Amino acid sequence: MKALVAAAGLLVSSAAGAVDFDATQTRRILGHGAWPPAQMQTQTADRTNRYSGNVDAIRLGAMLFGEPRLSGNGALSCQTCHRPEHGWSEPKARSEGLQRQDRNAPGLLNVRLQRWFGWDGANDSLWAAGIRPIVKDTEMGGSAAATAKLLREDAPLACLARRVEPAYAAMDDEAALVLAAKALAAFQETLSSPRTAFDEFRDALAANDRAGMARYPEAAQRGLALFTGRGQCGACHTGANFSNGEFHDTGLVFFLNDPDRKPGTPRRVDPGRHDGIAQLKAAANPFNLLGRYNDDPGGVASIPVRHVVQQHRNWGEFKVPSLRSLPATAPYMHDGSKATLRDVILHYSELDEDRLHSDGEAILKPLKLSEAEIADLQAFLESLSAPDDTAARYESLRREAAQCR
Ligand code: HEC
Ligand code: HEC
Repeated sequence: MKALVAAAGLLVSSAAGAVDFDATQTRRILGHGAWPPAQMQTQTADRTNRYSGNVDAIRLGAMLFGEPRLSGNGALSCQTCHRPEHGWSEPKARSEGLQRQDRNAPGLLNVRLQRWFGWDGANDSLWAAGIRPIVKDTEMGGSAAATAKLLREDAPLACLARRVEPAYAAMDDEAALVLAAKALAAFQETLSSPRTAFDEFRDALAANDRAGMARYPEAAQRGLALFTGRGQCGACHTGANFSNGEFHDTGLVFFLNDPDRKPGTPRRVDPGRHDGIAQLKAAANPFNLLGRYNDDPGGVASIPVRHVVQQHRNWGEFKVPSLRSLPATAPYMHDGSKATLRDVILHYSELDEDRLHSDGEAILKPLKLSEAEIADLQAFLESLSAPDDTAARYESLRREAAQCR
């Protein structure tokens, strides 16, 4: 029996040798773990949000996430565009609130690992990112006053809000809106993606466990070699969450694909990060981490907003998205212009260098991939996902919440 196992071990270890990763690639692969990262544990609270990790706030947030009364027409909730069964994203290329939005709804799994929020990073906290959709007139068209009234008058919501903040009924409308947004953030912090086939491979590589490594499909191994080698993908998609959290230009078509454009009006361009910095730092924005609602004033979380400066090169830059759990969140890119993962890979393969910033970094080059390489890269990207239980956890949180008396 022992001999048999040893023989089987030998066989797999030669299969694991299908791809030879050099020292640089091995170091890069190890850098995409471990998963889950320590920050994912609920004990690591967001210090800018005093309700982060608070069980009643998480329940209140789950209730509010599916609450259409937060919207002006009583029909739109966060869940309209961030659907649990689509990785908390939606299949539409561009979201439709009260009007069509310019951008694709990002998935929300692992959202707590981000530093900037929105494709343009117009917000520097998860809680502030929940305020914009509520009050923006083209999105949900709600208001601070209506949110405050709802928290006071709906029995289960009022019960939860009181547990979270006993004096909440005396808060002014804006403070009540922030309370709602911080509860929404506490809930969204619980959305995390599970370990994947890639994570098993990465840990096996770290442990030099050849049998463990051999369980990772060869196509995914070859795709990983491209990702960490010639593809240079890891230059921007770094770390365990496959994002450096910053902003880049990937040479997508400049003009917005705009079916609503009236004949004779100019084609629109999404300024991306350029505009995001302006919104974040606007003097009239009370919700950034320099404002009075930051529960950790002077803490490290507010360093980025203090130091970020708008530069010409930010024009047309968008946030580097995580690459975990992508199959559920199609279509892709900030404008939803790529229907499938294959389309994204073809974009990087055929890249129009003339469309790229001249003053940006010259990382991206058309990769001119073969059909086999395209399939390998796709197999690798797919190996970064696994079924998650967040939709079921959301439903059970909402059931618990509805019982608050
Ligand atoms: C009409 C569709 C729609 C609704 C409703 C909506 N969102 Fe979004 N959400 C989007 C879009 C589109 C973006 C990208 C916005 C941008 O880049 O400017 C986004 C971005 C976000 C982000 C940033 C994620 C990231 O990775 O940067 C968070 C967090 C978020 N939404 C939470 C919420 C919450 C909480 C609600 C409810 C209060 C909500 N959204 C309602 C469409 C929607
Ligand atoms: C220069 C930095 C950079 C490099 C290098 C890079 N990416 Fe990206 N990636 C981005 C940015 C920025 C976006 C979002 C672009 C947008 O929406 O405008 C993106 C988007 C994506 C998306 C879409 C994800 C989603 O949720 O919409 C995938 C998939 C992807 N990249 C895979 C790759 C692969 C594979 C490679 C290597 C061939 C690669 N990237 C190289 C910066 C980069």
